[in-house]
Amino acid sequence: MKNSRIVGLGYYVPEDVVSNTDLTQRMNTTEEWIHTRTGIQERRYYEVGKDTNYSMAVEASKTALERADLTPSDIDLIVYATLSPDYYFPGSGVLLQRALNFRNIAALDIRAQCSGFIYGLSTADQFIKTGMYKNILVVGSEIHSSGLDYSDAGRHVAVIFGDGAGAAVLTATDESEKGVLSTHLHSDGKYAEELAVLYPSSHVENKFDPEEQKAGGKFYPIMNGSYVFKHAVTRMPEVIREALEANDLTAEDLDILIPHQANGRITEAVRRNLDLPEEKIVSNIQNYGNTTAASIPIALTEAWEQGRIQEDDLVCLVAFGSGFTWGSALIRW
Ligand code: UT7
Repeated sequence: MKNSRIVGLGYYVPEDVVSNTDLTQRMNTTEEWIHTRTGIQERRYYEVGKDTNYSMAVEASKTALERADLTPSDIDLIVYATLSPDYYFPGSGVLLQRALNFRNIAALDIRAQCSGFIYGLSTADQFIKTGMYKNILVVGSEIHSSGLDYSDAGRHVAVIFGDGAGAAVLTATDESEKGVLSTHLHSDGKYAEELAVLYPSSHVENKFDPEEQKAGGKFYPIMNGSYVFKHAVTRMPEVIREALEANDLTAEDLDILIPHQANGRITEAVRRNLDLPEEKIVSNIQNYGNTTAASIPIALTEAWEQGRIQEDDLVCLVAFGSGFTWGSALIRW
């Protein structure tokens, strides 16, 4: 059986840096509240007319392809994770296919929110392990800033999200000990409305109801923050342990853990739960906020660029988010 290795990584974030102080000009919040509750200091916001969800994916993908020493014609499948697509339909995957002139390969959009990149990586891994495809591009890209509720009703959500994109190229290898060792995916739809954007909705008469487009309306993300927080700090360690146990490994074997950047306090709780030293966990939420499906590929790329990931290292990716969905991936680099 083939195995899949990550051979190229890239990310793109918009130029516009929005600090917590900048947000205090726009909404009813304080620098201190945001920093102490989330660890975030700044995030990036897209530039209207320049960045789109798929154009950011294009930039991240170009870097990942270049580092993989591959061209778009080498890619056999696009897997595109996002909760903020360019259009209601079609998905952003086809826009990326068009923009980079890929062959007429399949473009698969993944709707698993913060877990989207891990769901995407797992999907790509299965196609490679079965021998169906050789090279796969997995992307996570998000534009949140155009859809946030900056009123008091949405301020706890508005302060955490940022825009950005990350990409990884997976390729087939015959080395059985290298690459993606296993992935572990879960969901529990009981909590679907605890973190969601409910409109435009196909189960109401007027799916574009103007009333719901006003502050506090259903076109904006809603989140039962403390509820999501409690589930995140339980599910993330649980699914990391599931991955380790499946491979007869323990937390001590990990060289680096790259969690979805949901909240600095969540990352810290996961670190403590697994008793990991600080240098073994990646946290960049202070710079980008929570970029949902893009957060893991951005953090993974940065960690790799900084030389924090070396050949043979045991790398774990983990995510939790809306759905609820959660998952992990264990990789021998
Ligand atoms: O990425 C997908 C998964 N997402 C997550 O994992 C996020 C998990 N949740 C969280 O990270 C946290 O719940 C938040 C950072 C979103 C919110 O923090 P919190 O400690 O749960 O705050 P809260 O919403 O319960 O609000 C606490 C207080 C309230 O005031 P009172 O009622 O205690 O007087 C809010 O009105 O803080 C107030 N508040 C704010 N104050 C200043 C809420 N948002 C803000 C704000 N600025 N932006």
